[in-house]
Amino acid sequence: PQRIVVRDLASRLGVSAAELIKQLMRQNVMATITQEIPFEVAAAVAERFGFTVQRPKSSEERFLEELQQAARQPAQLVPRPPVVTIMGHVDHGKTTLLDVIRQTRVAAQEYGGITQHIGAYQVETQGRLITFLDTPGHEAFTAMRARGAQVTDIAVLVVAADDGVMPQTIEAINHARAAEVPIIVAINKIDKPTANPDRVKQQLSEHGLVPEEWGGETVMVPVSALRKEGIDELLEMILLVADLRELRAPVDRPASGIVVEAQLDRGRGPVATVLIKEGVLKVGDPVIVGAVPGRVRALMDDKGQQRQEAGPSTPIVVLGLQDVPQPGDLLMVTPDEETARRIAEERAQRQRAEQLRPTARMTLESLSRMA
Ligand code: GTP
Ligand code: MG
Repeated sequence: PQRIVVRDLASRLGVSAAELIKQLMRQNVMATITQEIPFEVAAAVAERFGFTVQRPKSSEERFLEELQQAARQPAQLVPRPPVVTIMGHVDHGKTTLLDVIRQTRVAAQEYGGITQHIGAYQVETQGRLITFLDTPGHEAFTAMRARGAQVTDIAVLVVAADDGVMPQTIEAINHARAAEVPIIVAINKIDKPTANPDRVKQQLSEHGLVPEEWGGETVMVPVSALRKEGIDELLEMILLVADLRELRAPVDRPASGIVVEAQLDRGRGPVATVLIKEGVLKVGDPVIVGAVPGRVRALMDDKGQQRQEAGPSTPIVVLGLQDVPQPGDLLMVTPDEETARRIAEERAQRQRAEQLRPTARMTLESLSRMA
């Protein structure tokens, strides 16, 4: 549909091929009667003959329109677990805190003790689920962390009671504010002799986070991830803040979710951890993830258990993608595999076009610099 033979275009326009070729020549296009010309050229020449041309809709446009239509139908909303992002300065104890919450020991296994990826896990507390995202604390991953905040309902800001507010603490506050996400502060490492929780509260107040006991609105919980103190209080506060937000999601929709991490696994191929936003993702669903098409071959939860489906706020490992998507990419279930494949092609084409542009500009700039 993107190209048309000159002869066919002439007959559709109701003009002779000779007339059409002459008009094409006036537009500096040399074409023979049997040659194919691109849509843009055909459209321009058709307009010369007094036609108005409608661009054929892309597969993606048609797909998105159908989704929008479906979204207008009243949805069946169900309560969903809160998605919590742990943020904070390097070494303030994000991973250790999450470990304690999960009762596992990820930090000890991590290379160099620095989190290299965003992990997503679900924990159960008081019979209710909370989804946690462990965002990287290193400065190099600031962009990824910014994306982490977008899928988040609540930010837990970890501040070490000995270190106090640091540059990445302030960055985290700004990310959470930009995403309009409520902040709960975990004042960590209160076991340390040099810990000074009041100084942390003072510093945070200067950045607009005033603790409740000082007349403000920010929940601050003193904890020691190392000694497993204050953890139950922290979880309770998370549920409390979550309840104020009445978190719900439609389930009777084609599923969608956000990629939080993805890599190529030697045995299993591309593997993506996806946080489900809406709907219920099922084994066998055709999907488009960013520019990557696929069909869900298997689903695995954060405990490594195979699952047949995953609903809102569930972090789930998806197998069956044709390539490795990017963190932050949106996963969407499509009506069929063909639609997913065509959307993927269109998006890949657009990405290639966008990648070419800055290079061309740079070349021009360096040329003019040379002149
Ligand atoms: P990055 O991922 O590198 O940003 O660090 P992080 O914020 O995840 O910190 P991590 O959990 O790796 O902890 C950093 C160091 O602080 C480790 O040596 C922990 O053992 C220590 N630590 C974490 N929590 C506590 C705490 O409550 N008390 C004390 N004393 N040390 C802690
Ligand atoms: Mg960490």
